[in-house]
Formats: sequence, structure tokens, C-alpha cells
Amino acid sequence: MDVKTVHGFVGSKLSFSEANGDAGLKKAATMDAEALIGAVSASGLKGRGGAGFPTGMKWKFARAETRTPKYIICNADEGEPGTFKDRLILSDFADLVFAGMAIAGKAVGAEKGILYLRAEYEWLHPHLDEVLARRRKAGLLGPDILGGKNFSFDIEIRMGAGAYVCGEESALIESLEGKRGEARNRMPFPVQAGYLGLPTVVNNVETFAWVPCILEKGPEWFSKMGTQKSPGARLFSISGDCKKPGIYEYPFGVSLRQLLKDAGGENAKAVQVGGASGTCVPASKFDRKLAFEDLATGGSIIVFGPDRDMFAVAENFQQFFEEESCGQCVPCRLGNMRLHEAIVKMREEGLDAKGEMVLRRLAATMQSASKCGLGQSAPNAFLSILDNFAGELPRGKA
Ligand SMILES: Cc1cc2nc3c(=O)[nH]c(=O)nc-3n(C[C@H](O)[C@H](O)[C@H](O)COP(=O)(O)O)c2cc1C
Ligand code: SF4
Repeated sequence: MDVKTVHGFVGSKLSFSEANGDAGLKKAATMDAEALIGAVSASGLKGRGGAGFPTGMKWKFARAETRTPKYIICNADEGEPGTFKDRLILSDFADLVFAGMAIAGKAVGAEKGILYLRAEYEWLHPHLDEVLARRRKAGLLGPDILGGKNFSFDIEIRMGAGAYVCGEESALIESLEGKRGEARNRMPFPVQAGYLGLPTVVNNVETFAWVPCILEKGPEWFSKMGTQKSPGARLFSISGDCKKPGIYEYPFGVSLRQLLKDAGGENAKAVQVGGASGTCVPASKFDRKLAFEDLATGGSIIVFGPDRDMFAVAENFQQFFEEESCGQCVPCRLGNMRLHEAIVKMREEGLDAKGEMVLRRLAATMQSASKCGLGQSAPNAFLSILDNFAGELPRGKA
């Protein structure tokens, strides 16, 4: 298996460190919008923010909108617990991200981009400003990019204020408009009516960073990595009880077992895949694959060693959701409070069959009736821990 890491200890480099993003941008400058969208679609690139929506298709929808101006937003909120790969991309490979945003602008017909930066990454702001200034000076950003008369695009950086929900694209847009960070109803989608009610593409930092690499090396270079349903490679942030935490790059389809071997976490009893909103996978299922068709993830991998109390983990995640719920809808606002209280209680007293049924019904209601992905995914960790580690509860009543 082809593994590349930084900040880990395997020692090789990421694909991004070998890429020439400006060569990708130069190529994009010679292509028309349809050809650009065609290349991104042919690569099979899917969004790296978690949901895995096909990037070419998102751009095609935005391209089809006739209202202008259109906007390109880079989601650099990176709030999912255990995720830190976008931070590395922004600190070491910001040129790739900005090139990718400019290419997206050309593809959909947008001349304005906004990078929404997580509040805790304020320290990256001066560095990113420098990169933007350098790119403007070099003719890689601003009016008539690379001398192309139909290729103008510029980017501004806007700061988040530290809310997890503002990583959700519609809450992010509300926040950019100066309002409370709260999810909007769907429809319409942001590609139809996003920032200021205008057509808007929102993509993750890593999604944009792959774009100039795909243009430089060709869609096939990308699509031949990974699996049929999940083409390409992606970055994983690996943390927790392992000897070599860090940022690792793998083609999709890698098993959890392989990843634990490389990160020095072979004796783990569980791995949380996808952060607080993801799934807790027990050791018996470590042959499962990291791919959209099996274990989908925004890149967060948290390793739990043999001594971890898994219901303390569940309690910690539930407290996080209780605090981060924006409070707009009842299933999420009250559901997370009740679930948190229940976990505290069951850690002391265990859980009988009736109590378990009530909690499972509450979780199902949250998953189906919450307004946005935060509430819909909030019970996931608890449910997977209950499914796999009920024996750890006092008296094992569950
Ligand atoms: C509660 C919540 C938090 C999210 N946080 C992020 C985030 O920090 N970064 C991100 O790229 N996507 C995040 N997303 C997903 C975005 O809503 C959106 O799907 C993504 O930015 C689209 O980009 P992509 O297609 O390139 O993945 C979050 C979603 C939810 C429901
Ligand atoms: S699900 Fe939670 S975060 Fe999303 S709108 Fe409802 S209360 Fe807000």
C-alpha cells in the first residue's frame, strides 16, 4: 500500500509536496469552462469535507445558474474533532488551494473567492495574506490571470468565530453574511442561492488543493488511484493512542488495519472514524475500508487504546454536541442534552432493555428530524459504542 506521511514517521512526502499547482493553473487558463468541469468530473474527485459530493457535478450546477455575480467559498473551518489536515495544507500548500479556487472560478463563471478561516487558525492569516499578495504580483490572481482576458479572480480571507456548526456550508454562509451561524433550510442549495442569495460553490480546503494537481497530471493520474466508487487519494489526520500520530495520505480503499499498523496503533481496541459525528469501529472490524462506500470520513481518525473507557468517550462527544448545537431545532437542541444526561447516568447505573429502547428511539428521531447534519449525525458515536461496547457498562445490563 502506497502510504505518504508528514508529521508521522514513515518519512515519505505527500503528493501535494510533489505537485506543481501553477502548471495546473496554466493548463486551466488554456481550457474553456466545459473542458475544466469535464476534467474534474473525469477524475472522479469527490468533496473531502465529509459528504463526498462529486466536485465536477457541483461546479456544473453552479455553471448552469445564470444569475451573477457567483462566488467560490473555501471551507477552512475544520472543526471536526480529530481533524487537522486542512491546517497543514493551508500552512504548507496554500498555493494549491488558491490555484484550485481560481480554477473553480473559471469553471463556474465566478470572479470572487472567499476563504472562511477557522477562528483558531488566526495565526495562519498573515501567512495566507502573504501568499495571496505574492500570487497577485505574479499574475496568478487578480485581473487577467496569466494574461488571459476571460480569467479574472481574486480571494479575500474572512474569519470564523469558533462555532462547529459554521463548518456546515449554509451556516458558514449565514456567518459570512454577518448573521448568527445557523443552518438554512434546503432547498435551495448554495449553488442556486448561497452567499448573498447568489450562486455559490462551497468546497473543502483539500478538495481545492487536489484540483490543480489533477489539471497538471491529468484526470487519469487521479482516477486510477483508490476504488471505483471512491477514486483518488486523501489525507487522514491520525491521533490518539498510537505511536506515530500525524497526517497520512492513502488511496481510498485502505483498511483501518493497515493505517493502524503504519501509525503504530496495532493494539487499539477501537477507532473513531470521521470525528465526533462519525462511527466507532471495534477491533473485530479493522479490515473495513476507508472509502465512501464503506467508512466515509472527512479525514479524522482517533485511535483508542485497550485501556480506554468507551462510554467516557461517548460522554465526551455528546457533551461536545450539546454545546455546539445552534439550538434552532428541538431534536438536536433537546436530544443532545437528553442523550448526554443518559450517558452520564448509564455510566453509573448501567442500562436496562427499556431504557435502551427509549434512547435508541430518541437517537433515531434526532437522525431523521434534525434540520442539519450536526443533529442528524450527533448520535452516531453513541450508537456505535452502544452496539459494540455495551459490556463495558456497570453490571452489563444493556
Ligand atoms: C456540523 C457540520 C460541520 C461541518 N464542518 C465542515 C468543515 O469544517 N469543513 C468542511 O470542509 N466541511 C464541513 N462540513 C461539510 C460542509 O457542509 C460541506 O459539505 C463541504 O464544505 C462541501 O465541500 P466538499 O464538497 O469539498 O466536501 C460540515 C458539515 C456539518 C453538518
Ligand atoms: S440540527 Fe442542531 S445545529 Fe443543525 S439546525 Fe438543528 S439545532 Fe442547529
